[in-house]
Amino acid sequence: MTTNPKISVRGLYKIFGPAPREKLNFVRDGISKEELLEKHGHVLALDNIDLDINAKEVLVLVGLSGSGKSTLIRHFNRLIEPTEGTIKFNDRDILLFDDEELQSLRRKKIAMVFQGFALLPHRTVLDNVKFALNIQGASEIEAEQRSQNWIKRVGLTGFEDHFPAQLSGGMKQRVGLARALAVNTETILMDEAFSALDALTKTEMQDILLGLQEELRKTIVFITHDLEEALKLGDKIAILHDGRLVQHGDPQSIVLKPANDDVAKFVEGIDKGRVIKLRSIMTSLDGHAPEFHLPEDMLIGDALMKMCMEYQKSAGVVDPKGKASGYIDLERIVTAISNPMMKRIKSRE
Ligand SMILES: Nc1ncnc2c1ncn2[C@@H]1O[C@H](COP(=O)(O)OP(=O)(O)OP(=O)(O)O)[C@@H](O)[C@H]1O
Ligand SMILES: [Mg+2]
Repeated sequence: MTTNPKISVRGLYKIFGPAPREKLNFVRDGISKEELLEKHGHVLALDNIDLDINAKEVLVLVGLSGSGKSTLIRHFNRLIEPTEGTIKFNDRDILLFDDEELQSLRRKKIAMVFQGFALLPHRTVLDNVKFALNIQGASEIEAEQRSQNWIKRVGLTGFEDHFPAQLSGGMKQRVGLARALAVNTETILMDEAFSALDALTKTEMQDILLGLQEELRKTIVFITHDLEEALKLGDKIAILHDGRLVQHGDPQSIVLKPANDDVAKFVEGIDKGRVIKLRSIMTSLDGHAPEFHLPEDMLIGDALMKMCMEYQKSAGVVDPKGKASGYIDLERIVTAISNPMMKRIKSRE
C-alpha cells in the first residue's frame, strides 16, 4: 500500500548571502560549496534536495557538521524560507500558507525538540510542558491533565515542581520530549536532541523514544551525527554531504550498499550484526530440510548468538507467517558481520 508522504521536498535549494537567487545558476551548473563561498561570498546550504518522508516513520538525517541538516528541517515549518523549491506537508504547499495557516502548522502540526532543551528556566517542569498547550489555546484543566500524563510517560513523576536548573541533562530532555508530545502534533522534529547527553543517558532516551513511537507512530525527523544512533532509531536514513542528499534508504541498504566511498567509510566501523537482517543474506532452501528455524527479520547478530547457544550450524528462515523462506548457516552470518558487501559474499559461492 502506498500512501502520500507526510513531508515532501522537491528541488530545494538554500543559499545564504546577500543575493542568493542570483547565485542559483552557478549552483545549477555544479559550482562547489567551497567555490561559491570563495568566489561569490555565498554559502550553499542545500543543493537540489528531493526527499519524501513517510507518515508514521522515523527519518534520521545524518551528515557532518555544516552539511545542511538543521537548515533542511527548519524549512519544514518555514523557520527558513527556501531560495528555490517546493515543500509539501500533508500534500499541501506550505510556501503558499497565509499567516494563520503557518501559525497552525507551527503550533498544532509540527513540534520541535532541541539539543539545548530550550526550557524556560523560571518555570517548573509542569509549567514548561503546559506552556505550549497554553499557547495552543487548551483550557487550563486540559493543559494540566495532558501535561501530567506526558510527564508520567517520560518517567518524570515527582519532578513536576522542579525547575530546569535542578534537573540532569537527561531529565531536561525528558521535559523537552514531554512538551513535544503534549501538544499532540503529528510530526516532531528533533535536532540533535540527544547529542549533549552522556552515552548511558542517550541510550535510555533512545529507548524511551522507541517505546513511545511503537505506540504513537508519529512522523519523526531526527538529526544526529551518530551513525549508531541513526541505525537504531531510523526506519529510513538520509545522508547529507555539503548540502546534497547522497543517500536515502532503510538502515540495511545504507550498510549493504553505501552510495559512495564517503558513505562506505562512514558505515565501516559500525556493528553490522545489529543492522542486517537474516532476510538480506539468506540463500534459497535448495533441498535443505532444517529442523531449526529463525524469523527472517531477526538481526544477524541475534541469530548468531541464538545458533551458538543452541549448537546449530545452520537454520531455516521463516517469513512472518511461519512459512519457510530461506536458509542460513553460521559461515554466511560471520562473513556478513565481518564484511557486509554482498558482492564479496557472493563471489565466494
Ligand atoms: N543563517 C545563516 N547564514 C549563513 N550561513 C548559514 C546560516 N545558517 C547555516 N549556514 C551555513 O549553512 C550550512 C549548513 O548549516 P547547518 O546548520 O544546516 O548544518 P548542520 O548539518 O545542521 O551542522 P551541525 O551538525 O554543525 O549542526 C553551513 O555551511 C552553515 O555555515
Ligand atoms: Mg545542525
